[in-house]
Amino acid sequence: MVPQLLVLLLCFERSLSFTVENNIGNDFELTIRMPNATSDSKDALICHSHELPERESYILRFVPHASMKVAHHMMVYGCGHIGNKRPYWSCPLIEEADSEYSICGGGKRQIVFAWANDAPAKNLPEGVGFRVGGTTGISYLVIQLHYVQPFGVESADTSGVTLHMTYDRQPQQAGYYVLGNVGTIPPQQPAYRMESACPMNLNYTIYPIGYRTHGHNIAVVTSGYRIRDGVWTQLGRMSPQRPQTFYDVTNPGLDVSNGDVLAARCTFNSMNRTQMTQIGTKNVDEMCNFYILYSTYEQKDLSVDYCFRGDNFAWGDYFPSIPSDASSLQGIPGADEIRHQFNMDPR
Ligand SMILES: *[C@@H]1O[C@H](CO)[C@@H](O)[C@H](O)[C@H]1NC(C)=O
Ligand SMILES: *[C@@H]1O[C@H](CO)[C@@H](O)[C@H](O)[C@H]1NC(C)=O
Ligand SMILES: *[C@@H]1O[C@H](CO)[C@@H](O)[C@H](O)[C@H]1NC(C)=O
Repeated sequence: MVPQLLVLLLCFERSLSFTVENNIGNDFELTIRMPNATSDSKDALICHSHELPERESYILRFVPHASMKVAHHMMVYGCGHIGNKRPYWSCPLIEEADSEYSICGGGKRQIVFAWANDAPAKNLPEGVGFRVGGTTGISYLVIQLHYVQPFGVESADTSGVTLHMTYDRQPQQAGYYVLGNVGTIPPQQPAYRMESACPMNLNYTIYPIGYRTHGHNIAVVTSGYRIRDGVWTQLGRMSPQRPQTFYDVTNPGLDVSNGDVLAARCTFNSMNRTQMTQIGTKNVDEMCNFYILYSTYEQKDLSVDYCFRGDNFAWGDYFPSIPSDASSLQGIPGADEIRHQFNMDPR
């Protein structure tokens, strides 16, 4: 338990659902907003849930209602059930299997959308929908706001998201494939690498459409690739010091099929650290994640697929040629600021 965060659970009644549904044929909009949330600590993580229609539906477009003055990020998660019936609750990302405070009540959690730094609305490509309800196991959506500052009722928060949805089955559905590492990062390293790679063993073709990098304070740059017959094609390369939202892939239209390899690398600057840094959920820990948002014609219920490796896994042991820019900040917006932040040579 994290007492200082639990203190801010307030005792509103399970009030009027803060939701508008505008039906036009099979298309509808679902607006999920914080019900006048308040926060009494800096950096609080606060959640609010919304029950989805039972019938299978598809999310086509995400329209955020949030400002970076108020929130560092907003995540939208899909849950099978929620363990908490309060209008909103403190939901730190600490996995306690049966905690009523965790995002999905300790049950299966699935990332649906990520917003940060005033990122604009996001459409999935034509003919692609993120499938929820029905047999997907996603019965609730939970929005999680990472608030910048404490605030009281005078500026009670109604941040949230409007989802443009339809009951019409879409030709393709969206899913996630996540690469990453576990382990530790030694101190005093200017460019410590963690690398992962796995054969894509899904039985259907996926088309990467977006990617998101996730890291904490010493993650400089993270990149992801498809490797086919020894040829590396970049999916994306971004600094986790930039907004950790979904970006369009470098090469749209690329397919990834059974037998291809998916690979990712995180590069850390631990010059400021005097001790080992663990991969973990706390802010002083680090994370190394490369999320691939993909579309597929496969119609079965999807679950998130993972490729995780330890800190002794190295691309060089498996692949003779490695892209020379896999750890480079070149071309990333704000690269100079990031170099400055890490006391790196300007190029
Ligand atoms: C939030 O506060 C506004 C203004 O006081 C009020 O109109 C609205 O009903 C409140 N919403 C909820 C969900 O409590
Ligand atoms: C993969 O697809 C093939 C051919 O469609 C099928 O025979 C096989 O059972 C599938 N395997 C799995 C694990 O679904
Ligand atoms: C290193 O620590 C100093 C002092 O705590 C801080 O100002 C600086 O931003 C840190 N640099 C990095 C790269 O974390």
